[in-house]
Amino acid sequence: MEPVVLQNMAAIAHLFSIIRDRETEYPEFSMRLSVLGSMVIASALEHAPFKNLTVQTPLEPVAVKRILEKDIVGIPILRAGLGMVKPFQSLLPNASVYHIGLKRDEETLEPDYYYDSLPKDLTGRTIFLLDPMLATGGSAVAAAELVSKRNPAAIVFCGIIGAPEGVKMLNTKFPEIPIYLGALDDHLDVTGYIRPGLGDAGDRLFGT
Ligand code: PRP
Ligand code: URA
Repeated sequence: MEPVVLQNMAAIAHLFSIIRDRETEYPEFSMRLSVLGSMVIASALEHAPFKNLTVQTPLEPVAVKRILEKDIVGIPILRAGLGMVKPFQSLLPNASVYHIGLKRDEETLEPDYYYDSLPKDLTGRTIFLLDPMLATGGSAVAAAELVSKRNPAAIVFCGIIGAPEGVKMLNTKFPEIPIYLGALDDHLDVTGYIRPGLGDAGDRLFGT
């Protein structure tokens, strides 16, 4: 499945001009990434479960479409995924949030697992995996493997920047997972960084 990449609207181009700029410091970086995150998550909500109902405005009944927030789960991949939790919760305040901790080994680029708070059973729930960077795809695949063992209804990946290599890997291992990105960049370099990218998302989000 081709990734869905946000259209290059002026507001999105503007936000990328700020988060890609190495002169942009914490906390402005975090704030701007959060706004981009809400745009990516909002477009991925086309995969959210919903119901049709009629509500009464003060003037008349109207047919509406309401997302079933409690059937949705957000899962940030620590640490950088935490930067996408606020936008997720502002869109879906009644959705649960669980966490998965993964850290890429700098030599091998393989994700090392160190934590998760997942419940045993995610039956019937739609999962939004949140991670700003889809580089090799190793972290996203490891997270999807952990989540898929809990029998969710569906998994959707939301990121800020992806590399073609990461999209290909996630697509190959989990062809059913739709991928939503703010931007699809050119390539991965030999050290595993997305180019042109934005550098180390976790460090820039948390001022480390
Ligand atoms: C970064 C990023 C992703 C991962 C992507 O996290 O937030 O989780 O790398 O790389 P991959 O697609 O090659 O797996 P990192 O492991 O550096 O941890 P951090 O968020 O704690 O900084
Ligand atoms: N993780 C990051 O934070 N940045 C990259 O470019 C690749 C992985």
